[in-house]
Amino acid sequence: MSLADEYVAESRTDRIKIHGPEGFEGMRAAGLLAAEAMDALTPFVKPGVTTAEIDRLAREYIMDHGAQPACIYYRGYSHTLCISPNHVVCHGIPSERALREGDIANVDITVVLDGWYGDTSRMYAIGEVAPRAKRLIDVTYEALARGIAAVKPGARFGDIGHAIQSYVEAQRCGVVRDFCGHGLGKVFHDSPNVLHFGRPNTGAELKPGMFFTIEPMVNLGKPQVKLLNDGWTAVTRDKSLSAQCEHSIGVTETGCEVFTASPVGLFRPN
Ligand code: MF3
Ligand code: CO
Ligand code: CO
Repeated sequence: MSLADEYVAESRTDRIKIHGPEGFEGMRAAGLLAAEAMDALTPFVKPGVTTAEIDRLAREYIMDHGAQPACIYYRGYSHTLCISPNHVVCHGIPSERALREGDIANVDITVVLDGWYGDTSRMYAIGEVAPRAKRLIDVTYEALARGIAAVKPGARFGDIGHAIQSYVEAQRCGVVRDFCGHGLGKVFHDSPNVLHFGRPNTGAELKPGMFFTIEPMVNLGKPQVKLLNDGWTAVTRDKSLSAQCEHSIGVTETGCEVFTASPVGLFRPN
């Protein structure tokens, strides 16, 4: 997408948008493409491959499928992916650093297809990883699953946050407060902020046609983060390992639809 296109695109509003069947169709296609792009990258997320190489493959895949990488040009960011290894919480910048045996890494991809945004991220264990690293990935995956399970009409955003926080803290991990999920649709980061902590029965009510991401970041240690001098990379203050999983979802009459599920079942961590 060119910068000029951004100016004519729909913009963020404080109101939470309610989308109709056309929106579900657009998001289904965008979410599927984001998931398929991630599936295509998966064989390359291995020891010895640089994160810049994975980023290049992602950009090619997206362009070859008639879509655009959403993050290029986004607020001065210039890459397709965020790749966040080990103690990087989120927004790790692709670089010539190669992934190493024993690393864990989050890969986050956002595509724009026919104006609709598909945003998803997964965790990868690079070769054999320490048991505590594997456990962190499993806890984070389950935290997202519990957040999604709380989504149905009549529930509130605080119920999602509470489902995630209460589970993560019972596992003696920390849930990051400084970043959140977000509404999306024809806007990348729209209302509301979807917090991954909270109290039951608080916040806005969920209604059919609302689209948003849930993307909990979970630390093996304390929840605090700090931003590196590059202005993007967020790391854990205590240097503990961090993990994240993200889906884009839409509220339906009975629950929710996950737009970014892998068609071949690759979302669940290996
Ligand atoms: N995909 C990220 C999210 O989940 C956003 C990345 S913005 C970037 O919201 F500019 F850092 F790429
Ligand atoms: Co997101
Ligand atoms: Co994302």
